[in-house]
Amino acid sequence: MDLHILDHRLRVISISKNGLVNFTHPLIKLIFLRNRTRCKFLSLTETPENYTVVLDEEGFKELRPSEHLQVESSIWLPLNVVSNGNASSSSQAVGVTKIAKSVIAPLAQQHVSVFMLSTYQTDFILVREKDLSVVISTLEEEFNIYKEVGGESVPIHCQDVSNGLQKNGKEAIQPTVHPVLIPQNQFCVMSLDPDTLPSIATTLIDVLFYSSSPKEDAQSSPSQDLDCIKFFSFSLIDGYISLVMDTDAQRQFPADLLFTSSSGELWRMVRIGGHPLGFDECGIVAQISQPLADSDISAYYISTFSFDHALVPEEDIVSVTDMLQHQRKEQAA
Ligand code: ARG
Repeated sequence: MDLHILDHRLRVISISKNGLVNFTHPLIKLIFLRNRTRCKFLSLTETPENYTVVLDEEGFKELRPSEHLQVESSIWLPLNVVSNGNASSSSQAVGVTKIAKSVIAPLAQQHVSVFMLSTYQTDFILVREKDLSVVISTLEEEFNIYKEVGGESVPIHCQDVSNGLQKNGKEAIQPTVHPVLIPQNQFCVMSLDPDTLPSIATTLIDVLFYSSSPKEDAQSSPSQDLDCIKFFSFSLIDGYISLVMDTDAQRQFPADLLFTSSSGELWRMVRIGGHPLGFDECGIVAQISQPLADSDISAYYISTFSFDHALVPEEDIVSVTDMLQHQRKEQAA
């Protein structure tokens, strides 16, 4: 298997809900006017607490500093696993489940903090630039590692394998088990041909920037249901679009443009964290993805500025809930 360190230097920021008006102009440019910016990596996610934006340095230049902007201080690099077709694994599972044992668990064991971004197309594992040598020495046993530079993949090795590795990595640090929330909405993970982006522009602008303003015609929207969560994610990465939205939002889009995998499954969300998770703690993704991998349950995983979000197939939500509850009891014991 190959692991690529992509040629993007990313920032993770949050925009406060009422500060969004100050950023609609640059965000519209980044989303719809691609030829006007050099930004190649953009992800924008609305959650109840804020908007999370993950973008490269070129995109970051478009955003003016503001009291409404919180910027995580590190540079993050996206890693991407490319399986070169040797069907060594019998697993049908997709998403973070596929990389739970080979990437997520070893990095957690070496105390490397990650930030996950699953999309329709693939799963990006963001790591801090300063952790790169530990990341490489941890993963080079399992993977051929390539660094992408200016469109070319250059194989890299860690000269000194012991470099940065925590030999005592196996020492049992009890990870904090965070409380989870399981909202009632059903989600879909979709894509769109970038050439048809203009056709959904008005809907996308409405959903992204005006979702909290009451609609003229709506009596009481079901999304205001207390048991449902506001979550909408749009990403445009190296020319590929990915959208994660609930079925309420999906109904607002023209039915023929967005597409999803042929099975067209719906997903339920597990939101991880009772208070904002911060960026230094490691092992959060690991403790969720590990049991999913053990049961071969597919999952998308999206970290945001404050919380983490796992999406699991709707039919598996009961067993996932049981599994997490079990994990909690074990910890308490
Ligand atoms: N750093 C965590 C881990 O290594 C995941 C990210 C949690 N933080 C956040 N702001 N979403 O498992």
